[in-house]
Amino acid sequence: MSERVAIITGAARGIGLATTELMLEEGATVVMVDYDQQALSKAANTLNNVLPIECDVSQPDQVQQMIATTLEQHGRIDCLVNNAGVADFGPIESTSFDVWRKVMATNLDGVFLCSQAAIPALKQSQGCIVNIASISGLRASTLRTAYGTSKAAVIHLTQQQAAELGEHGIRANCVAPGPVRTKLAMAVHTQAIIDAYHDALPLNRYGTEKEIAQAIVFLCSQKASFITGQTLAADGGFESTGVGLPALRS
Ligand SMILES: NC(=O)c1ccc[n+]([C@@H]2O[C@H](COP(=O)([O-])OP(=O)(O)OC[C@H]3O[C@@H](n4cnc5c(N)ncnc54)[C@H](O)[C@@H]3O)[C@@H](O)[C@H]2O)c1
Repeated sequence: MSERVAIITGAARGIGLATTELMLEEGATVVMVDYDQQALSKAANTLNNVLPIECDVSQPDQVQQMIATTLEQHGRIDCLVNNAGVADFGPIESTSFDVWRKVMATNLDGVFLCSQAAIPALKQSQGCIVNIASISGLRASTLRTAYGTSKAAVIHLTQQQAAELGEHGIRANCVAPGPVRTKLAMAVHTQAIIDAYHDALPLNRYGTEKEIAQAIVFLCSQKASFITGQTLAADGGFESTGVGLPALRS
């Protein structure tokens, strides 16, 4: 990754911060993007070789400015990690349009906007895009009308990006994490849900931020040079096992 410039959105904490740290270990320069200015400054102050930029990825003008600042400061973009995301779980009938729009604005519009704005620079570097979806985009589940649909759309958008951008040498892939104990997940996972995940997942535990970051950094690296249009589930076996009946296991 040395000499490479990576933009990571949602970098102030959680999976985005772990990916920032791993990218830095690999020698990249990291542009840390987040709309939580306080958390962003706190995280960036502990790191070297980073450029923190406050930006709401759902706002087209802010995204354009973020890309322009990156190019002014570093002159190139090699990797774009679209990681910023929000979760809001609820039943279909009581999912308000405001909630639907809030989830789509960050999780889907943000991926579209950041990618589109970065494409001219990615063409020059023959760079790559890694979008962060979720296991919730690979299979439907209760309460995830907005969140799950946004993440399924991200998986398809990744394939669109791979189809159109491959001829420019740009790869686009997706990571679909299973449960990780971040602020986002802990806001929607009760203790009963945590226990049930531990029981049902083949690896019997949550993943760590670093385990998701390792999948992301792999897809950004030259080791993945012939991989594009794929979704890598980093999920402790969640997706492969489908419906797991507790009665069959006990
Ligand atoms: N934690 C999990 O269990 C889990 C599982 C599957 C997928 N994911 C996905 O991983 C990604 C990272 O989530 P996390 O668990 O690290 O969450 P997190 O809440 O710890 O971090 C998300 C970061 O994104 C930032 N952010 C949110 N909306 C933004 C916006 N519009 N513009 C700029 N920044 C914004 C937040 O301020 C925060 O710093 C998300 O896309 C999430 O959907 C997480």
